[in-house]
Parts: sequence; C-alpha cells; structure tokens
Amino acid sequence: MKGDSLQQSRARHVAIIMDGNGRWAKQRGLPRAVGHQRGVEAVRRLVRSLEPTGLECLTLYAFSSENWKRPDEEVDDLMNLMRRFIKSDLEEFVANKVRLKIIGDWRALAPDIVAMLEDALARTAEGKRTLAVALNYGGQHEIARAAAKAAAEGDVTIETIAAHLDTADLPPLDLLIRTSGEIRLSNFLLWQAAYAEMLFVETLWPDFEPAHLAQALDDFARRERRYGGR
Ligand code: FPP
Repeated sequence: MKGDSLQQSRARHVAIIMDGNGRWAKQRGLPRAVGHQRGVEAVRRLVRSLEPTGLECLTLYAFSSENWKRPDEEVDDLMNLMRRFIKSDLEEFVANKVRLKIIGDWRALAPDIVAMLEDALARTAEGKRTLAVALNYGGQHEIARAAAKAAAEGDVTIETIAAHLDTADLPPLDLLIRTSGEIRLSNFLLWQAAYAEMLFVETLWPDFEPAHLAQALDDFARRERRYGGR
C-alpha cells in the first residue's frame, strides 16, 4: 500500500559494530587489553540505559569468526573479559529484565564459557528487552547455515531462510551503527542489514555513551524509509 512503507518513527532493533578499542588504548599509550576493558564498560553503560530508549533489542558484535586470527594473548583477553562480564553483570540483567541472547557459533567456544552462557540464557529468559551478543559470529556463515536448514526441509525461499537465521526471533533490524570511522560491515548481520539504516560515527567504542545512542535514535526517527518504494 502506498505510504505504508514510509516513515517508521521508533527504532525497535539497533545493532552496533563496536570498533576502536585498540586505537583508544594506543592513543593513550595503554595496552590493547585496557581498550577492550573500557569497551566492556561502554557495553555496561549502554545496557543500563536501554529502558528509556524503548528499544526491544540491542545486538552487539563482540567477537567475529575472523577474530580468531588475532594474537592468542588478545583472544584470551577477550574471552576472559566475556567470562568476567557474565559473572559480574548477570544478576543485574535478571533484576533489570534484560534477556540475553547469543548469536553465532558460540557453542564452539571454550566449554566453561558455553556453560556460563547456557546458564545466563536460562536465567534471563523472561527478560523484556533483548541484549543479543554476537560471539564467534560471521554473517555469511549464518546465511549458509540457515539456507542449508531450509534446503533440508525442502523449501528454500527468503522467508524460510530468514526463519532459520540466528536472529529469527528478533524484530527486524532498523539501524546498524559502526564506531571508529571505519565504513564497512565486516561480515556482520549481512542478511538483516538489507533494509537497515546505517550510521558510521567517528567515536571510538570506549568513548561511546548512552547520549550517542539517544542521538542516533533521534536521527533515525527523522529518516524516511522507503524499502525500495517511492
Ligand atoms: C574492536 O576493536 C573490538 C573488538 C574486536 C571486540 C569488541 C569487544 C568488546 C567491546 C568487549 C567484549 C564485549 C562484551 C559484550 C563483554 P579493535 O580491537 O578492532 O580496535 P582497533 O580497530 O582500534 O584496533
């Protein structure tokens, strides 16, 4: 219907490529690990600010399937940050009704992390707003897995592939933000980004504040979305 596709004012689902932790640390003469720690603090601030945004889902790219190529020490740092984050913040998620969701091949992570995540998923299952964390995630692989499942069921269409994506139970992606001035998707949510708005900001991830998200949501509310129509 004409007009139907125009202007959807409030975002339901925002995804963020959290980039720039390394540069943030380098600018200050600090180890990269400190940049990642400050990155986790930015995550925490944002999750605490979710309620007033009205967002139903925030999806964060925490570890890509390509990130294994980083030096072992950095991979270990990131995995340890994940362990600590779940340990320190799980109770707060439960109290604030944040539902945790993990996308990607996260079951291939270290067994203790898988066990922690399974526990966290179970304990937050009744949450009202979703924090989706992409772990060992690659968009092409997600699409290939979903297409293979659709094929095994004998019906490969846009709808059947979408129904098998890791994000099948989430609202459509409205806005994809990347920090640190890089302008690429880096294999994140390739399918879901088909009609999403994009926002590339110069801010390095550790400096990203709830006010930046609020501004992005404000800008989004003013954009006119056409989904290929006129
Ligand atoms: C990009 O910065 C960031 C990452 C590869 C990891 C993102 C991870 C976190 C913010 C912490 C873990 C998250 C959670 C949810 C606990 P970069 O290292 O590529 O920065 P650079 O491009 O400046 O080097």
